[in-house]
Amino acid sequence: MTAPIRKAVFPVAGLGTRFLPATKAMPKEMLTVVDRPLIQYAVDEAREAGIEHLIFVTGRNKAVIEDHFDVQYELEATLSGRGKQEALALLAKDLPKPGSTSFTRQQVPLGLGHAVWCARELVGNEPFAVLLPDMVMKGEPGCLKQMVEVYKETGGNILAVGECDPAETYQYGIVGIGAEIDGSAFRINAMVEKPKPEVAPSNLYINGRYILQPQIFDLLSKQEKGAGNEIQLTDAMLRLMDRQYFYGCRFAGDTYDCGNKVGFLTANVAFALDRPDIAGEFLPALKAMVEGK
Ligand code: UTP
Repeated sequence: MTAPIRKAVFPVAGLGTRFLPATKAMPKEMLTVVDRPLIQYAVDEAREAGIEHLIFVTGRNKAVIEDHFDVQYELEATLSGRGKQEALALLAKDLPKPGSTSFTRQQVPLGLGHAVWCARELVGNEPFAVLLPDMVMKGEPGCLKQMVEVYKETGGNILAVGECDPAETYQYGIVGIGAEIDGSAFRINAMVEKPKPEVAPSNLYINGRYILQPQIFDLLSKQEKGAGNEIQLTDAMLRLMDRQYFYGCRFAGDTYDCGNKVGFLTANVAFALDRPDIAGEFLPALKAMVEGK
């Protein structure tokens, strides 16, 4: 029996420089795809996968994320006074259970590996998930749920992967494909950060969802800096791969990198076209705009 995945870490302490000036005073993770903040999509995905405890690694200027997952008494009283039951029900559905959220601060944004390490006391000695909220997933079931299904069979560490254009491997963390477990999962036999196409072990990239064993914290605690002079999660995972199995889970669904502008805009279109309350009006407007180009 594998230990259940009860806790998820959301690293949200980055500076979001690619979205300046929008992110000067507002966290990138609060940018909206249609009408939900990026962080809400990641939290929804985690809850669907059975996560009970949500751990946010925040930084300066990120207090609004904490407020987003709290009760807003004045707003709710006003909505209630105006009989806005639908809006109230929506807020109630999204509100995490009392005591199921924790917030810690990464005092200096030293890299993703460092952000995850900052959650070590809150995670403790059990396997856990990491979700990068700027990677927004569209799939049924959600990406983390698909990973948990694989994990129940394999245990170990699981990375969700998607296919990239083979010419663009230099933009991603790429994995090597070992023995197949079934059609959707395989043993990872290599992990290379941003390889040139001619040396890339495959075109499968790590898409921002991880299930990790707690031994990763010992490796992260060495605080070794890697690419970009940041403490990289990939470097610690590579070391852990010497001792533990890593599996790739081919995510059946679409991944939108909302950390860059084109990915963010594309996600807005994709999610809007999926919304019955919006698509009817939006699609003709979009078509007219595109045909006019
Ligand atoms: P990114 O590198 O995409 O985010 O990190 P960033 O640094 O905020 O963005 P740019 O490149 O300056 O535009 C992926 C995720 O990891 C978090 C970010 O908040 C984001 O959710 N992160 C990154 C941290 O929490 N701490 C860090 O030191 C770095």
